[in-house]
Amino acid sequence: MIRPLSTFDDFRNAITAYRLPRVLIAAIELDLFTAIGTEAWAIPDLARNMKVSERGLAILCRNLAMAGLLKKQGKIYRNSRLSATSLNARHPAYRGDYLRLITSHWADWGRLPESVKSGLPLDHDKADEPVYCRGFTWAMHHRTLETAPKIATQIDLRHARTLLDLGGGPGTYAMAFLAKNPRLRATVCDRPAALDVAREIASTHKAGARLSYMPLDLLTEAIPGTYDVIWYSNVLHIYSPQDNQALFLRALAALNPGGRLLIQDAFLHDREGLFPEEAGLFAVSMLLFTEQGDTYKATETKIWLIGAGFERIKVLRMKKGTEDWEGGIMEARSPGTNAKTREHRTRSIENSQSRSSH
Ligand SMILES: C[S@@+](CC[C@H](N)C(=O)[O-])C[C@H]1O[C@@H](n2cnc3c(N)ncnc32)[C@H](O)[C@@H]1O
Repeated sequence: MIRPLSTFDDFRNAITAYRLPRVLIAAIELDLFTAIGTEAWAIPDLARNMKVSERGLAILCRNLAMAGLLKKQGKIYRNSRLSATSLNARHPAYRGDYLRLITSHWADWGRLPESVKSGLPLDHDKADEPVYCRGFTWAMHHRTLETAPKIATQIDLRHARTLLDLGGGPGTYAMAFLAKNPRLRATVCDRPAALDVAREIASTHKAGARLSYMPLDLLTEAIPGTYDVIWYSNVLHIYSPQDNQALFLRALAALNPGGRLLIQDAFLHDREGLFPEEAGLFAVSMLLFTEQGDTYKATETKIWLIGAGFERIKVLRMKKGTEDWEGGIMEARSPGTNAKTREHRTRSIENSQSRSSH
């Protein structure tokens, strides 16, 4: 957690913390780790190969070695295990689409005052433009391919037969749940260009045969079918409180009695809505890139869920170090089959239908 900044030195140190991130981004922009590959390089040879200055490269590489991304022995540099794999475009474990996304944010964050003044996102690629959507969807896969299997081992889906990955993008989470639960069938629901990526990924997995695809605008359309579980990961923060509450009503209508809505997001967990730090800072990304997105308190999300008619709401804690976001995943149940809960459910669904028709 960030230490409160109380002296001028604290403030200066917090600001100048941009230096190492900028060194890392420069290395990615120059594709340095790919250029080094599996070989050992002296700076003059590497500089010639990369068509950059020896002076600039020497200083950059020394800093990367200081950060542990390069190994330096005398005048010779090699990649570390991390930089030789995830950061090297010639390695199968390369996570290039996600690296491109997060490094491109450097320039966007430089324009933060514009968004603070206007309250509007930057003039950016449109989320539903197919080429952008495809790249973003691969980035989401590269972001969670290690996390999703760790989460899937901690969520008990033994009694579930059907799961909807709502706004599932590449379907990385759906695939992880399918791999862990052989009797489960899943549907990934998203924009058509995202579903193309999900199909490509699923075709490389045996469990992919149990995945179906549903193109849908989840913001405006009713969700066809009913499911035992709806997995709603990293979508809540894109939309306004009003849109989220309307979505919860549509999700409830698409759950079997007693079914579960699982929400994974950057929840704020303290009373004032400031922490954890990652969730606070993520709201800045939402200001820069979305019309009305934000990060939300777990407690306010719970109130929206109760308002929509969900029951037995709790936070499922994941093991430390395995989480997508610190603080856990919110679980909410659709009412079961007794008369009182059936009545509440019917009323909620009717409300949902009349709201979405206005
Ligand atoms: C941040 S990504 C999260 C992907 C995945 N659920 C995960 O946790 O990695 C948000 C996803 O929601 C999808 N999405 C957002 N708004 C949508 C809408 N109105 N209709 C359909 N999909 C939408 C995006 O296309 C994207 O795939």
